[in-house]
Amino acid sequence: MVKTKTKWICQSCGYESAGYLGKCPACGEWGTFTEEITIPESTSNNTNMPEFINEDKPLSLNEIAVGEEIRTSTNISELDRVLGGGFVKGSLTLLAGDPGIGKSTLLLQTAGQICAQGKKVLYITAEESANQLKLRAQRLGINSERLYIYPQTLMEKIKSEIEEVKPDFVMLDSIQAVWCQNAAGTIGSISQIRECCSVLMHLSKSRGVTVIVVGHVTKDGNIAGPKVLEHMVDTVLQFEGDRYKSYRILRSIKNRFGATTEIGIFEMLNGGLKEITNPNEMFLNERSQISTPGSAIIVTDDGSRPLLVEIQALVGTSSYPSPRRVTNGVDLSRLHQILAVLEKRVGLNLSKQDVYVNVMGGMEVNEPGADLGIALAIATCASDIVVDSQTIIIGEIGLSGEIHPVENIEKRLNEAVANGFKKAILPYANHVKSDKIEIVPVKKLMDAIKFSTSLL
Ligand code: TYD
Ligand code: MG
Repeated sequence: MVKTKTKWICQSCGYESAGYLGKCPACGEWGTFTEEITIPESTSNNTNMPEFINEDKPLSLNEIAVGEEIRTSTNISELDRVLGGGFVKGSLTLLAGDPGIGKSTLLLQTAGQICAQGKKVLYITAEESANQLKLRAQRLGINSERLYIYPQTLMEKIKSEIEEVKPDFVMLDSIQAVWCQNAAGTIGSISQIRECCSVLMHLSKSRGVTVIVVGHVTKDGNIAGPKVLEHMVDTVLQFEGDRYKSYRILRSIKNRFGATTEIGIFEMLNGGLKEITNPNEMFLNERSQISTPGSAIIVTDDGSRPLLVEIQALVGTSSYPSPRRVTNGVDLSRLHQILAVLEKRVGLNLSKQDVYVNVMGGMEVNEPGADLGIALAIATCASDIVVDSQTIIIGEIGLSGEIHPVENIEKRLNEAVANGFKKAILPYANHVKSDKIEIVPVKKLMDAIKFSTSLL
């Protein structure tokens, strides 16, 4: 009989302990430890350790021959863009997102496109029946004899079927619903997820099969399973959006074969996900055409295309002892910094006011070039004035209220012009001449506020 030992694992961060702990020393969460039975190293099946990592001797860098990176385009340009030009052969990708966001739909549509190129796809459905999958495929208009559907949850069977069918692509929906006989713990536990993922990683590297696995995200936004899964895979794609609205955003939060700055935008329609190739048009169409206080349009440039995004702010007298600061799509500490600069350098005291900042369209704005737009949205709302709806705002705010330049100003301005904007408030150091748009260069936050108020 195999001797087992027990260990306690934090279900939030994966921290391991020999005994029960009330509070996790790694992530600080309370009551997250569960007991898991493990098989000792000597008897456990370690055949899944990837041999491509285990060379006998160190290699000189010059000796290492690099094979050609073979990519398969998905023919879904928004997905290709996020991946950096398609799936790399032999890579392992995690597609993560909240339940109901459209992961299975995206996966099946991708499978349909890949089969259409003559490739063989093994689609393992561990959560839904073959019948349910067939219904979805009919809804999406997907039909191919090269698409093999395999309803199965046991990893050993999945592994032997991959070896038998020899597909080009393996898609698994989802990693939390499969289990390994060799690993301890219940389905979806960390040890099971880790073991199942390592089987897939081994298969992808040794057989050159491209693997895509779906993973659900926990309530607090972590990929359940949790960080271990992110560490093991080559690429992590996050599918997000407001479930009550139709558009979805795909971003890569880890990519061993490309940049992580690109985003792909889709719309969920009755017949599946449709690509949005001109997102600016869509976001701006949603915007009210009447200027209201507390709204500012910025141009962000995180990836290869600039995006026009509306920032909305609401400022009101607080009924709480410590006023509320709530952000949606903007880092909270960034808001605190902007509020501090507004108070110290502009004299706008919001210490008794609640401040809400929202990035419209479910977008996230992380680049500092959005600072000035956020500051103007707050300042104009607090003073009940409007920023002209034909004006875009770009700039990073320093702690002394100075406006720092941003990258790629020409690209951003071109996008603004293409979408009919007439005026741009931008950092003085980015001052460019343009006959298509009126340029208002500013050195200080105070100047930017003055110029936006004079737009009335
Ligand atoms: P699904 O892909 O099942 O989400 P996930 O795998 O992330 O849990 O899709 C979820 C929602 O999408 C579901 O509520 C129905 C909707 N949907 C459409 O609107 N159009 C479609 O063509 C399909 C297939 C689904
Ligand atoms: Mg699903």
